Amino acid sequence: MKVTIHKLFDYLLESAASDPPECFIGFSLARSPRLKDFLADLDPEISLDWNGVSFLGLPALRQRVLEQAGLTALSPDAVLITAGAAEANYLLFRQLLTAGDEIITEAPGWPQAGVMARAIGATLREVPRSEADGWHLDPEAVAAAFTPRTRMIFLTNPNNPTGRLIPETDLLALAALADRHGIWLVVDEVYAGLEWGHPRPPSIAGLTPFGITTGSVSKALGLQGLRTGWMICHSPEVIRDAMILRENSSEIMNSLGEHIAEIALRPDRLAAALEKARTEGRASLEKLSRFVAEQPRLEWHPPQAGLIGLARLDGIDGESLARRLLAAPYRTFLLPGSAYGCPHHIRLGVGGGPETRLGEGLARLSTLLDAWSG
Ligand SMILES: Cc1ncc(COP(=O)(O)O)c(C=O)c1O
Repeated sequence: MKVTIHKLFDYLLESAASDPPECFIGFSLARSPRLKDFLADLDPEISLDWNGVSFLGLPALRQRVLEQAGLTALSPDAVLITAGAAEANYLLFRQLLTAGDEIITEAPGWPQAGVMARAIGATLREVPRSEADGWHLDPEAVAAAFTPRTRMIFLTNPNNPTGRLIPETDLLALAALADRHGIWLVVDEVYAGLEWGHPRPPSIAGLTPFGITTGSVSKALGLQGLRTGWMICHSPEVIRDAMILRENSSEIMNSLGEHIAEIALRPDRLAAALEKARTEGRASLEKLSRFVAEQPRLEWHPPQAGLIGLARLDGIDGESLARRLLAAPYRTFLLPGSAYGCPHHIRLGVGGGPETRLGEGLARLSTLLDAWSG
């Protein structure tokens, strides 16, 4: 079946078609570096002819991917470089699921699982995260959603949109569940790397042979435009099947993106970039948390990791608020919670650096909330 549009993308397209926002309270990625930041380390003799490189992706990059995920016990052949985590997820959904299968996911969560399940003819079973418990995902509730037709669990860690982490103990329980049932446990770890007072949870591919990690350089490193991500999986068959599907779309990787990503993931550079993103992110999140605390019509559980969180609105429809805020005179972008099936919430994000004009955006949101009468 055709892939159909999801509310989240629909809203992004709609807002891109309106007058450009002057402020953003919705950015999920750290401030993006410039090309010039990499020039000194880029070999000008790099060939832009892809031939001769592995179909899995640049070997040095695959090694870096394992290092940053703490998975050096795995072989670089367990890594497939993809056009972002989004492509890695896509290849997995398409190759591992078929019509009539069931997939378990979290709510709220990244909408790609629902979009792809619908297109494939698979049934989506959503396990609610508990807002009262800081958006905790209960592994027992995941276990209770199993049926004989379940083929995959798809989760985000950190969670998009709440920034809640699945801690190691819960990951181990989920890994045991996947082992017991012999089903794939795909964890999208695209927001990993910016944890606030919590350890980075282990990558799922290190916890069970059924665990598949997806990720990219898009979020914590702000390198979304490189379109460079990965899947990490023990099974050579899964990697091969993903490669076969990819051969029929983008075929191979973007060489320049791979080279820049490899530089960005070198340990010294990675540590410095994460430190910078943490310093900026922490300051902005503190500002945002103070703002939410002062707003009588807003409450939230601040993210445990990443640059986005989901805030509850008291008696206000999130989509009406987002649209009014996007229009003049406010001209400020944020994502309504309806993009995640949460109509009384808004997604707040602090990424993107000074161009987002976060402080001014919050001031405009405050004015709108004060003036709100429905
Ligand atoms: C959970 C999640 N997965 C994947 C993506 C896509 O990331 P990438 O740029 O690596 O394709 C996003 C982007 O917002 C995301 O939030």
